[in-house]
Amino acid sequence: MRILVCNTPAELDRRAAEMIADAVRSRRDAVVGLSTGRTTGDIHRAFVRLVRETGLDCSGVTFFGQDEVAGVPRAYAGACYTMLKNELVGPLGIPEERFLMLPTESDDFGRDCRAFMDELEKRGGVDFLFLGLGENGHLGFNQPGSPFGAGARLSVMYPELEERIRRETGTPADKPLGGVTMGLKDIMQARKLVLAAKGPSKAAIVKKMIEGPVTEDVPASVLQLHPDCTVLLDREAASQLAL
Ligand code: GLP
Repeated sequence: MRILVCNTPAELDRRAAEMIADAVRSRRDAVVGLSTGRTTGDIHRAFVRLVRETGLDCSGVTFFGQDEVAGVPRAYAGACYTMLKNELVGPLGIPEERFLMLPTESDDFGRDCRAFMDELEKRGGVDFLFLGLGENGHLGFNQPGSPFGAGARLSVMYPELEERIRRETGTPADKPLGGVTMGLKDIMQARKLVLAAKGPSKAAIVKKMIEGPVTEDVPASVLQLHPDCTVLLDREAASQLAL
């Protein structure tokens, strides 16, 4: 793991955007994965600015999301599809055929997950995947206890997120919600990974992810085993590291 500590959140956003740009330049038809959340929204906006300033050519690139909220309409503001559309895909004018997402609703998530992974493979496999980090160590919707060997599948949310989404969408308690996600095995197969974490609420889990044992109790700890993984932190998220 390569650890980069940035002086400010804005510096982190700029460096992250440059890393996404490097991935775009690496192959004309690069396959570039993104994650949603509070951390990555500003990064996506910084990337859009970079593309506008430099004229970076994204016309052959496939962008995809590594996970999705399951059980809500795709147009819900908190669905990963809509977030990525608003933050990056829409502003850059990426057409639907080069924006791949897992479905929010399906009668067979297993089949749709296989089709999604097959399509990524058909396009040459994942060149680059940008990750966020959950406070409990989750990657995508791979919650603590997720097997390192698991592939893309329907999984569970963490309770705070589920509560917020139920409130925002008015979803009744008896309708199941979940998260559909690439598995840890799929994430580890990406050629290059970058994970970003910001702020004091991530400091303890960042320490566990980097300095703790590799264990399924901390899904993100598996990244210690990836041959090309960079962790981008601001000072607060890095504050508990023994650097
Ligand atoms: C959600 C998303 C993840 C994301 C994580 C971190 O669970 N499904 O893909 O990495 O949250 O989000 P935040 O940056 O808001 O802490």
